[in-house]
Amino acid sequence: MSQVTVTEHLLLHQKKTPMATGRFTSLINELILSAKIISREVTKAGLVDVLGFTGDTNVQGEKVRKLDEFANNVLIHRMRRSGVLCAMASEENGDLIHISGDLPRGDYILIFDPLDGSSNIDVNVSIGTIFSIYRRPLKKTGDKPSMQEVLQSCDKQICSGYFIYGSSTMMVYTTGEGVHGFTLDPSVGEFLLSHEDMKIPDQGKIYSVNEAYWNSWDPATKEVLAHFKSTTNNLGQPYSSRYIGSLVADFHRNLLYGGIFMYPARTLDDGSKGGKLRLLCEAAPMAFLVEQAGGLATDGTQRILDYKPTELHQRVPLFIGSRNDVEKVAEIYTKHQEQK
Ligand code: AHG
Ligand code: MN
Ligand code: MN
Repeated sequence: MSQVTVTEHLLLHQKKTPMATGRFTSLINELILSAKIISREVTKAGLVDVLGFTGDTNVQGEKVRKLDEFANNVLIHRMRRSGVLCAMASEENGDLIHISGDLPRGDYILIFDPLDGSSNIDVNVSIGTIFSIYRRPLKKTGDKPSMQEVLQSCDKQICSGYFIYGSSTMMVYTTGEGVHGFTLDPSVGEFLLSHEDMKIPDQGKIYSVNEAYWNSWDPATKEVLAHFKSTTNNLGQPYSSRYIGSLVADFHRNLLYGGIFMYPARTLDDGSKGGKLRLLCEAAPMAFLVEQAGGLATDGTQRILDYKPTELHQRVPLFIGSRNDVEKVAEIYTKHQEQK
């Protein structure tokens, strides 16, 4: 493995990106330190009392696990003091997290899912942290950024990525110049470049979806699944089905092997319809990564990066992965829409 650290890699790339500053590097370094602390705690799960629930319910109506709360607290505590942010948003917090007046501020906005794959925490299955970075719009200088300043079009992200706590701990990120992966070398405590310029195969062999929701899917979604199982698809044979239940882990595998991750809209008991995954802290950062790796991300028909969020915790259906596979999904959805 190379000896190139994330900081060295960023400095190299910053020369090519005139927008980039040393402040951005320090933002990434603070994120890395937070992730190392989270990784350390995740590895100790089972030995110390970090398994199970806190007894609280988060803004999404989900039960909060102790490690969710720990990861969220680490990120908020560290990033608040980084001196380069003007606001943050977390999957676990209902409102924006502002930087109090006594702390130095910058013009970056950080949005994160502190621990993704909560249901896998207690069973030793890979989980992750997802992050997305925007710049505060120019000319806006007031103390607290408004919600409108945070709810920027998803294609305005300047950086996104994830940390995956798996058989090794990795960081995968993009600043719009390709996707690069680093593996934590525990003996030196640094993330070292292990996967430079990652590209997702155009044609996947894997589909990842929670198929237990079959009965709440519309006919177009059912046709999508039938396509991937058929012998008349591009492969000429059924795809393999792999579903971990941690978006980070399912995405990471598909990025390396090729494939499509799907979380389609479901018709719910109350008749409403919608996706589960969060646009700002899950779908958009992954969409930026996948496009930089040569893949695609849509809600079925609309490109995820074209979304302009209307609320902080907006949810969206998600189809993300290999180009041919996502294009096929869009073709099937479009056909069904035209038939209506
Ligand atoms: P989180 O743990 O941050 O709440 O995210 C869980 C997400 C995502 O990681 C995963 O792909 C999906 O929820 C799993 O949902 P289902 O259990 O409905 O399949
Ligand atoms: Mn998540
Ligand atoms: Mn989470």
